[in-house]
Amino acid sequence: MNTHVAGHPGTLSQMRQDDLMTTLYRTHERELVPRAEALARTALFPRLRYMGSKYRLLPHLSSVFEEVGGGRALDAFSGSGVVSYLLKAQGFEVTSNDFLDFPAAITSATVVNQTELLTHEDVRAIVGPAADDRDFISRTFDGLYFNAEDRAFLDSAWSHIDRLGGAKRHIAIAALVLSAARKQPRGVFTFTDSTRYADGRRDLTLTLREHFVERVAEYNATVFDDGQTHRALVGDIADLPPSDFDLVYLDPPYAPQSDDADYMKRYHFLQGLAVYWEGQEIMTTTKTKKIIKKYTPFAYKRTIVDALARTFEQFADAGALVMSYSSNAVPDAATIVSLLRHVKATVEVHPIDHTYTFGTHAAATRRAVSEYLFVAR
Ligand SMILES: C[S@@+](CC[C@H](N)C(=O)[O-])C[C@H]1O[C@@H](n2cnc3c(N)ncnc32)[C@H](O)[C@@H]1O
Repeated sequence: MNTHVAGHPGTLSQMRQDDLMTTLYRTHERELVPRAEALARTALFPRLRYMGSKYRLLPHLSSVFEEVGGGRALDAFSGSGVVSYLLKAQGFEVTSNDFLDFPAAITSATVVNQTELLTHEDVRAIVGPAADDRDFISRTFDGLYFNAEDRAFLDSAWSHIDRLGGAKRHIAIAALVLSAARKQPRGVFTFTDSTRYADGRRDLTLTLREHFVERVAEYNATVFDDGQTHRALVGDIADLPPSDFDLVYLDPPYAPQSDDADYMKRYHFLQGLAVYWEGQEIMTTTKTKKIIKKYTPFAYKRTIVDALARTFEQFADAGALVMSYSSNAVPDAATIVSLLRHVKATVEVHPIDHTYTFGTHAAATRRAVSEYLFVAR
């Protein structure tokens, strides 16, 4: 059965029939898009600097995904969204999930969205005069992030975005989030003195208004129609119904030996910006005005093993589980293999070696780290 016909959605009844077939017989025979083509398309995906993002591993991931095959894929911890986009580009029907909101804005704009673009008129309105007098961002982050003009732009942009619906809204939010991430030195919101890392990079000198226009063009360029129905979800992975996925990709936070893997601490401003801080609780006594942390058992040495075991159990019926993990983190590869063996007959480990540079000075130490890809089926 070949259900992937790029750009030519089947009729409704044909799609229902395909759905039924997918449920009855897992569709490992779906014809995928050639890897080179999928990777070339994914190279267009706008880059968000994000802890643990897999931009550099896309060639490895795409070959494992191709080898596993199938029709329905879950990207359970989507983050920057680049892996969800790769899966769509390869021809999978994608469910994308993360417990933060901005990842879903990005995948709603680029993966779920098949046809809608933000037009020149839409952009002109968003960068034009404000539609109301809101000033939450200007007031709350005065003296902390960006200058007064940039903060006023974020408020003003949101006064228009609030009037948008559907994929246009998602593209606008994704572009606003990426603009803020690019302009913040190092892309993280753990410090408030932006002169500390000011290095004259173009990204730091553009106004957020100028960024926004460029980032919209980049997100518009990612939109393509493959005739499939993709989903972008916001929620804890433990609450996601397992469905009948052929491929489940797991890229949880890496529980480090020391420190933590707290995404909210680093990216709270992007999380707030994606929803205009609605429903978010700011810890007003913190210097960075961060949002209260979302607990995840994957971020800690004490709870990670149990969390992995439960997640493998949850998706035990999937055709294949593919998981990324670092040799730098806890638990070790042997433990992960034995946990996967509880739910799957065969487990392969693909180590991908690369060298990280620790420290920022010239004498920074370089240490070889293996990024593992576990494939269990
Ligand atoms: C290593 S990052 C994923 C990176 C992603 N694959 C990429 O290439 O950008 C881990 C992600 O897991 C999310 N996360 C952490 N705990 C979670 C949980 N319990 N449920 C859902 N998402 C979670 C974080 O918000 C973060 O975006």
